[in-house]
Amino acid sequence: MNIREAAQERTTALRVSGMTKAFGPRRALDGVSFDVDSGEFVALLGPSGAGKTTLFRCITGLARPDRGSVQLANDENRGETRGSRRCERRRVAVVFQQFNLISRLTALQNVLAGRLGFVPVWRGFLRCFSRADRILALECLDRVGLLGHAGQRADTLSGGQQQRVAIARALAQRAEVVLADEPVASLDPQASAGILELLRGICQENNVAVICSLHQVHLAREYADRIIGLDQGRIVVDVPAAAFDGGAISRLYQPGATVKNSSKPD
Ligand SMILES: Nc1ncnc2c1ncn2[C@@H]1O[C@H](COP(=O)(O)OP(=O)(O)OP(=O)(O)O)[C@@H](O)[C@H]1O
Ligand SMILES: [Mg+2]
Repeated sequence: MNIREAAQERTTALRVSGMTKAFGPRRALDGVSFDVDSGEFVALLGPSGAGKTTLFRCITGLARPDRGSVQLANDENRGETRGSRRCERRRVAVVFQQFNLISRLTALQNVLAGRLGFVPVWRGFLRCFSRADRILALECLDRVGLLGHAGQRADTLSGGQQQRVAIARALAQRAEVVLADEPVASLDPQASAGILELLRGICQENNVAVICSLHQVHLAREYADRIIGLDQGRIVVDVPAAAFDGGAISRLYQPGATVKNSSKPD
C-alpha cells in the first residue's frame, strides 16, 4: 500500500473515552477523551506529572482506570476471556524510554517476542518460532537498519539501537497502535531524529496510529500530525501540529494558565 492509499483508508484506530485515574486524592487523569486515526502521528506533550505515562498505562491495561474505556477498531465484541485479552494486547505495542528489551536476549529474539501473542503459549515459552516468524523478524530488523546486529545481545546495543529494536518488535507484532513514552529522552539529537523518522515512517507506510510522548516541542512540531497537550490530567490543547503556536505552548506550560484540577491540593 502506498502512502496515498494509506491516507485514504484512515479509520479510527483508538478511542479513549472519559479516562480517569486517581492515586489517593490525586487525579492523574481526569476525564481524558480522544480518538486517533490509523496512520496518524500524535505527539503527547505536557509538563512532568501531567499524566502522560499514566494514560499509556491505562490504555495498555498495565494500570486499571477508575473510569473510562479504550476501544480499538472493530472491537465492539471485545470479550474478557484470556485469549481475547491476549489478542487485544498484541494490537497495541509500547516503546518505553528504557527497560524496553530483555537484556540477555539477542536483538532478533527480542523482535520475535513481538510474535508471542500469535504462537501458542507453550511454543512461545520454548521459543519455537516458525520459519515465517523468523523471516518476518529479520525483515523488521532490516527495516530499522539493524539486520547486521540480529545476533547481538540487547544489553550491548546503544540506546538508539535498543529503541530501534523495540520499534522492530512493534512491527513484528503487527500492532495497529504504537504508544511511545519518551522514546528519545536519553538519545542525542541525531539518534532522536532517526527514531522519530522511523515512527513517522511506520505510521505512514503501515497505517499504524502512533502516540508519542515528548518533552521537546520542536520535535513534536516537526514530526507529528497533531499535538495533544495534557496538564494535570486533562487535555488542554488538541490541535494540528502546524497550529501549535506560542499561545498553545503557554496554555500548556505556563503555571496557572489552565483550569486547576479541583481534586488536587493547591
Ligand atoms: N503508581 C503511582 N502511585 C502514586 N502516584 C502515581 C503513580 N503513578 C503516577 N502517579 C502520579 O500521577 C501523576 C502523573 O504521573 P505520570 O507519570 O503519568 O506523569 P508524566 O506526565 O508521565 O510525567 P513525566 O513527564 O515526568 O514522565 C503524578 O503526580 C505522579 O506522581
Ligand atoms: Mg512519564
